Amino acid sequence: MSKLAIIGGTGLIKLPNLNIIDTREVDTKWGKPSAAISVGEWNGKEVLFLPRHGNPHTILPHKVNYRANLQSFYDQGITEIVAINAVGGISSDMTPCRIVIPDQLIDYTHGRIDTFYEDNLKEVVHIDFTAPYSETTRNKLINAANQSGISIADKGTYGVTQGPRLETVAEINRLEKDGCDIVGMTSMPEASLARELHIDYACCSLVVNWAAGKTDEIITMEIIEANLKQGMDNILSLLGVLLTNEL
Ligand code: HPA
Repeated sequence: MSKLAIIGGTGLIKLPNLNIIDTREVDTKWGKPSAAISVGEWNGKEVLFLPRHGNPHTILPHKVNYRANLQSFYDQGITEIVAINAVGGISSDMTPCRIVIPDQLIDYTHGRIDTFYEDNLKEVVHIDFTAPYSETTRNKLINAANQSGISIADKGTYGVTQGPRLETVAEINRLEKDGCDIVGMTSMPEASLARELHIDYACCSLVVNWAAGKTDEIITMEIIEANLKQGMDNILSLLGVLLTNEL
């Protein structure tokens, strides 16, 4: 049986349904994770939870110590991670408040430390990353959504940008030509670091705005927050079913 952790993104600093049993301030060989790890029980299943951007939310996407976050889960014996992220919608069916379980990604980030295998190597390590997200975990999320009657996109390509600023229209047009359906700032290097540690990892992404140029609207924090508020209930319902299925 998997040992599951959830990484909360923008709008998910705490899991409201998690009955917290322990809070662990941990340290790793790469430094401290974004916050203390909450260990709790939800629908009878033990879950570990970490807010990616800290608590309170103060750590920008390019400043997250992704290695410490992933290592801290590995050190606690975690075998599977569901990562929540807020994203912008590029393809016409990626409408605000839709949940997407991406199956591919393109990494446009730069300057982020993206491997555990850098120094003091005995040999060079190249992980397979053909399918960047775990099919096992993706299928669990898709099944949970179907059971809950929540309409999701069960695949899509996640373009990972550097941020913290949002994109220009030309950048989004380029991402669209490249085949990206959604755009966000956090799935890399999280996904590849998880793969390096052999942890099953998948994203449950919530569309919180149309990407730049997809509407005439300027993207404001008010729009993002309103969609986060509206969409997060579905994310929580889906996770609740996922956990019940794990028993
Ligand atoms: N672009 C990049 N990251 C995002 C967006 C966006 O439009 N919305 C939420 N995260």
